[in-house]
Order: sequence, then C-alpha cells, then structure tokens
Amino acid sequence: MIYSLMDVTQQASPPLTDALESLRADAQKAISEIKDGDAEQQSAQLETIRVEFLGRKEGRLTAIMKSLKDLPPAEKAAIGALANTIREDLERDLNARRDALKLSILNQKLASEAIDVTMPGTARVVGGVHPLTRVTLEIQAIFAGMGFQTLDDDVCPELETDYYNFDALNFPPDHPARDMQDTYYTDLGSNVLLRSQTSNAQIRHMEKQKPPVRIISPGRVYRNEEINSRKFVLFHQMEGLLVDEGIRFSDLKGILREFVTQFFNGERPTRFRSSFFPFTEPSAEMDVQCILCSGKGCSTCGHSGWLEIMGAGMVDPNVLTNGNIDPEHYTGFAFGMGIERLAMLKYAINDIRLFFDNDLRFLTQFERL
Ligand code: DAH
Repeated sequence: MIYSLMDVTQQASPPLTDALESLRADAQKAISEIKDGDAEQQSAQLETIRVEFLGRKEGRLTAIMKSLKDLPPAEKAAIGALANTIREDLERDLNARRDALKLSILNQKLASEAIDVTMPGTARVVGGVHPLTRVTLEIQAIFAGMGFQTLDDDVCPELETDYYNFDALNFPPDHPARDMQDTYYTDLGSNVLLRSQTSNAQIRHMEKQKPPVRIISPGRVYRNEEINSRKFVLFHQMEGLLVDEGIRFSDLKGILREFVTQFFNGERPTRFRSSFFPFTEPSAEMDVQCILCSGKGCSTCGHSGWLEIMGAGMVDPNVLTNGNIDPEHYTGFAFGMGIERLAMLKYAINDIRLFFDNDLRFLTQFERL
C-alpha cells in the first residue's frame, strides 16, 4: 500500500506523528544552529547530529521505529512512510550542509592560494661565462682548428712534484732558473709543490703518448708574487707542445702567428726575441704589436710599441729524453702563454685582480659578448 503524505498525517497515530515531527524540527534546528567557522568542528557537529537523530542503533528515529511493532499494520505503514520521508529530508539537509561546508573550504583554499596573474614576474638572472673561461675556450678552439688536442684536466695535477715541475724540464738542481719562479712548497713532502707552470703537462703527456704529439693544456699555476695590478699569486697558463719528425723553428713561428691573427681578429705585426728557458733550445719570447697604441707607444706597452704574449722554443733534447722520446729521431716546439695577460689585452682590462674579485660590476660586462 502506498500512502501520500496527506494520508500519512491523517491516518498515523497522533503521538507518534508528533514525535516524528518534533524530531524533524529538533534536527533541523540543530543543523541551523551550527555556527560558521572552524570546518573540522562543523563537520564533527554534523556527524553528531546525524548519529543523534538518524543513527541506526541508538538514534531517535530508530527508537521511534522500534516502538511501531505493536501498532496495527495500516498505521505501522503510515508512520513508517512518514519516518522514511523524515529520514530522507534530514539526510538531504545534512548533505546540503556538508556540501556547503565543502564548498566554503574549497573557496577559502582558492582564496588563500590565489595567484595575481597581473603581478610582474621575477626575471631570471642569466649568468655569463667568466672572461678567463671565455678566453681559454677561444684559445682551445683556435688550436683545435690547427689539430691540437686539449688535455683532460686530470692529466696534469696542480699539486705536483718537483720532478715534473722542474727536474724533468731540465732545471738542474740548484740552477738559478728555479728562482725565476717563486714556488710554493707544501708540507706534504719536501718535493711536493703547487706547480709554478703548466709545463709539467709536457712530461706528463709524453710519458703516455708517442709522437706525433700535438696538445695544449690549460690550467692554474701558483707563484709567490707580491700582488699588484699585473701580478697575482695564482693565474692561468695555456701550455702547448708539438713533437714530430722534422719539426723546425719555422713551424713554431707559423703556428703561433696564425694563433695571433685569429685571437686578435686580424693579422698583427709580431716579433720573436731570443730568450732563455731551461726546457727549450733555442728559446724565444713572442711579442705582438701593442693592441692599444698600434705600436706608437703607450703606458700599457711601456712605450715600446710591443707586448710580450708568450714564451716558446724548440723542445730541449733532454726534455724529449725525459718524456721517453728519442731526440735523434724527433724534434718539437713548445709554448706557454698567460691566459690573464691575453684576456687583459683583448678586453683592455688594467688590473689582474679583477679576474678574482667576483665583482658583478666587472663580470656582467662579459655576459653578452
Ligand atoms: N713555463 C714558462 C713560464 O711559466 C712559459 C713557457 C716558455 C712555456 C717556453 C713553454 C715554453 O712551453 O716553450 O714562464
């Protein structure tokens, strides 16, 4: 039998109908009295109300339903229908309130996480390549174009023995040439030092590689210098070594002139002055016409019109022998240039300390080059 609500109220026993209606009213009042505010508290209150009125075991609705069992069937059905309607109504009210709560939690979250898309963005700071790295890469590229390989960093250590830094390079013991470079010794052993030149690369490489040899090796070197605008206690060099059959001084000149042309973006007058290094014979220093005054004479070139850019020479036979290469069969040339010096000339930098200060006013000037 199906009852409409009208039938129900007409046929149901008045006390039970009243009890149900007051249950409904109480529940609705309780729901409406939940205060806005803490979301967890609200949802706990909703659950308490549900349990109190609709809880299956001990809820008020269940209690009323239990008391139906002695009623006549028609009345039982009518009350039962009303009870169901009330249960559905209250469930709907509770759900509606729960949904509203969820929505308000979501809205609060959205509000607190809101992004103002009109705010200006944070510009990303793009770093630049350090001028020394830039010049090193440039030198490497030029020599790569002439068939020179760049040695890996781990081939020649900065912490070196005096054998590779001096002895094997033909510096006799107690020879005054050792004083040319004020060397930092360490307390790791009387023979352990911070290398004073990248020329250790020559021996380290020849020990491993038979001719033809055609390498460059960039790296850091250390010298106990009084610091000023031209000298620092550490700096960088680029070492070069070429060994093969029939290599002559003219090969050295040709390669190094080509390097200058490419590095300074155009042919420039150069000259070779005789010099002395223990590991080369003959030895030379290469000058390039002053970049700043084009040879007229200025303070940068000491009014000579020339700038020294590197040391070079034919590899001394003793050095080849120390590298296990037969000097009767092979000849070669070597060169070593200061990377800071080349960078200073190329970019008209007047103080070597600028490379090591990490002052952004200096460094950012190289970002977009
Ligand atoms: N090692 C030398 C220095 O530090 C530079 C040098 C000169 C390197 C002549 C060479 C060379 O390879 O042949 O002053």
